[in-house]
Amino acid sequence: MKRVAVLASGRGSNFQAILDAMQSGEINSARCCGLITDNPDAYAIVRAHKAGIPVKLLDYRLFSSREEYESQLVRAMHETDADLFVLAGYMRILGKKIVSGFAGKIMNIHPALLPSFPGLHAQRQALECGVKVAGCTVHLVDEGMDTGPIILQECVPVLEGDTEESLSDRILLREHWCLPRAVQLFCEGRIRVEEKRVYIL
Ligand code: GRF
Repeated sequence: MKRVAVLASGRGSNFQAILDAMQSGEINSARCCGLITDNPDAYAIVRAHKAGIPVKLLDYRLFSSREEYESQLVRAMHETDADLFVLAGYMRILGKKIVSGFAGKIMNIHPALLPSFPGLHAQRQALECGVKVAGCTVHLVDEGMDTGPIILQECVPVLEGDTEESLSDRILLREHWCLPRAVQLFCEGRIRVEEKRVYIL
């Protein structure tokens, strides 16, 4: 069994989707060994407590510098002894040191069809651009912003009259489908990366 740690800053519905998939057996090659969060008010913490998952809270506001926060984050990540780290609504950019120190072991879910609309407010960016198809991407994390090798993508239609909220809700359902599958593939050892391309074995 692989060990999966999740980093989340807020609601944690993607974290929950992973826990549910572990519970149902959809993810059968891994267990969740911890939640790391930068936000004491994150609802993800409540979800972790309900599921008996250990929580490491690193309240970003209590650190005097980003460097200090990141050195504690590295320590917390090592302490989980995880094989895979999943960024599930983790709202901070990971520093280069962390990304290179855990190279190939960090996965992120982004609510857009990358490489379109990286960064914040991806769904709003998509609406403003007038695209007809939107979606989500699970990718490995590299040193860029939402630029790492793409593991899975799912698309949804953009409907007339969509608001940021309605489009986000539609995409979120696909996120909950995609992310657990990517975790399972990773933990089964079925992901091979060559340059920018991911091959599913
Ligand atoms: C999701 O839309 C995810 O793609 C993005 O942040 C949001 C987190 O939602 N990175 P939740 O906390 O998992 O509910």
